[in-house]
Amino acid sequence: VEIPSLSRVYQEFFNIGAAVNLRTIESQQNLLVKHFNSITAENDMKFIEIQPVQGQFTFEKADQLAAFAQKNGMKMRGHTLVWHNQTPDWVFQDVNGEQVDRETLLQRMKEHINAIMKRYKGTIFCWDVVNEAVTDEGPELYRATKWLDIIGEDYIEKAFEFAHQADPDALLFYNDYNESNPQKREKIYKLVKSLVDKGVPIHGVGLQAHWNLVNPSLEDIRAAIERYASLGLKLHLTELDVSVFNHEDKRTDLTEPTPEMLELQAERYYQVFHLLREYRDSITSVTFWGAADDYSWLSDFPVKARKNWPFLFDENHQPKDSFWKVVQF
Ligand code: G3I
Repeated sequence: VEIPSLSRVYQEFFNIGAAVNLRTIESQQNLLVKHFNSITAENDMKFIEIQPVQGQFTFEKADQLAAFAQKNGMKMRGHTLVWHNQTPDWVFQDVNGEQVDRETLLQRMKEHINAIMKRYKGTIFCWDVVNEAVTDEGPELYRATKWLDIIGEDYIEKAFEFAHQADPDALLFYNDYNESNPQKREKIYKLVKSLVDKGVPIHGVGLQAHWNLVNPSLEDIRAAIERYASLGLKLHLTELDVSVFNHEDKRTDLTEPTPEMLELQAERYYQVFHLLREYRDSITSVTFWGAADDYSWLSDFPVKARKNWPFLFDENHQPKDSFWKVVQF
């Protein structure tokens, strides 16, 4: 049977993206070109990769990924400008190792955002401006980070303002995980609503969508989509994968997925994409955090060196039952 192109099947609905790195744009090249019309750099546009040392910009890897997108007529999402993780220590310190003040850190944030956004203006159509700023724990809203410590709560709106000045054409997103958990959902909603109410230039909410065979429930996913869409912003699924292990499953002995896992995964993908198609007016992009089961960050998380099989394509880049469930409707 002929294998249809995933992104072509979905062209009336939303873009289909994949997170990539320098290895996968080689090893998965044919698969990416056939099935995906958008890419995101898995790591290579993060602060620590772009400016590991103050003033030394290292764009080589990011440039290669951007060139791959251009050459193949793909869109590119930018990931990510301001995050607590993968940000070098120097950003928050002076030459003596002392913590910098608010004005200095704001200036560094602005310079970083300017440098990277201007370089990829016209290639990158949207940016995850602030990533994972909401805490999972307790009643507090904000995650504890140096950005928050030093600048204060307005670090988030400042990042969006700097981003909008750097590239007024770029769509600006707030991106987070556990986005469908009801408590976290309400916190994310509250944060984003406060930005919208203040007139901060924000255009979308990124739902990372790191899911497994049962969690979050379809009802919770639907409720999250409805809640964020009620803000009148665009929604992107930014990092979709469906782990074959549920949270409590700590097995490490599997060298291939069980038939039961693959069956449940196919049913899960069927239901998820059925739901996503319903919200085509809000959801304009669905990006997987990888492309095929030969490479996924989940094969190292949350259990080190435990293989996972989260995607629509297997380790040989062949369509799984999950793929057929997504393209046949
Ligand atoms: O770059 C170093 C390399 O120099 C070194 O030799 C190697 C040895 O461990 O480590 C390399 O860094 C690793 C980096 O990926 C690049 O491969 C880090 O250890 C590793 O922690 C890092 O993991 C990335 C993770 O973000 C970091 O938080 C994953 O690849 C990446 O998939 C993951 O992506 C995040 C999104 O950005 C945000 N949402 C969650 C998602 C999954 O965690």
